Amino acid sequence: MNNFKSFQQRIDAFLATTIAQYPNSKLQQAVSYSLLAGGKRIRPILIYLTGQMFNCPLAKLDFPAAAMEAIHTYSLIHDDLPAMDNDDLRRGKPTCHIQFDEAEAILAGDALQSLAFTLLSETQLIDDQSKINMIKELAQASGLAGMCLGQSFDLQAEHQSISLEQLQKIHCYKTGALIKAAVRLGAIASGDIAKLYYYALDSYAEAIGLAFQIQDDILDVIGEQAIMGKPQGSDMAHQKSTYPALVGLDNAINMTQQLYQQAIASLEQIPYNSQPLLDLAGYIINRNS
Ligand code: IPE
Ligand code: IPE
Ligand code: MG
Ligand code: MG
Ligand code: MG
Repeated sequence: MNNFKSFQQRIDAFLATTIAQYPNSKLQQAVSYSLLAGGKRIRPILIYLTGQMFNCPLAKLDFPAAAMEAIHTYSLIHDDLPAMDNDDLRRGKPTCHIQFDEAEAILAGDALQSLAFTLLSETQLIDDQSKINMIKELAQASGLAGMCLGQSFDLQAEHQSISLEQLQKIHCYKTGALIKAAVRLGAIASGDIAKLYYYALDSYAEAIGLAFQIQDDILDVIGEQAIMGKPQGSDMAHQKSTYPALVGLDNAINMTQQLYQQAIASLEQIPYNSQPLLDLAGYIINRNS
């Protein structure tokens, strides 16, 4: 993760400045609490790395990166709610609904969602058409055919035995959609030169998006709570449908390796320096948090 530290610091500072512009309130505190609690910032990093590959100025990528992290943090706050995964630890701290209360956590998620689209619409650094394209990408990846749909499938699949195909679909929606949108936002910000490579970028993003959630499932079994900053064993406790539960730990690990190969093959089609994106893929399948 060391390679990506400067981007983490950049997005952390940008998010802190953004939130500080809003009046102090219980809601603002709940939003800050969850958004500024750390987190790996993988999705912003993906936006920065994709843009950087096409020589896009980093300042153009700050707003989309912050918007993406706002949606992601909202998804985590709601994911942890008693009605969903009912978890009490996130990013090394009590979850939002434990620290505040359930109503405030629901509202913090809601406010983060609208913050994302405020950020995308207000930046002066991106032309209007690109902004609209970004808003559409992020909105679609979040909602009825994206993250929310995947979360709904995930909950329906508790205590069920489902096929590998169905499980892959859940993971692609609940986690893959936002990861794919992150790469696309970086590409849109980069303008016309990136357009030729949308197909290869999508293929890369699909591979790492699925690998990301498989590794998340693996860590739920073998990870260390203190390193992950979230409960270990939560999936088992809720009888979630996961890759280790369905195919076993070794097969799940093998699948992440295969997806890494797909990521390599996809990036080989792009005649720019894609090494940092490859490094990130490697980090995703080897991470312990
Ligand atoms: C956790 O996401 C939720 C999933 C989609 C698996 P991250 O592992 O990116 O969580 P943070 O942002 O680093 O806390
Ligand atoms: C959640 O998947 C994916 C989201 C859209 C937030 P998980 O429920 O496995 O994520 P964690 O393990 O709680 O971070
Ligand atoms: Mg969940
Ligand atoms: Mg969860
Ligand atoms: Mg998980």
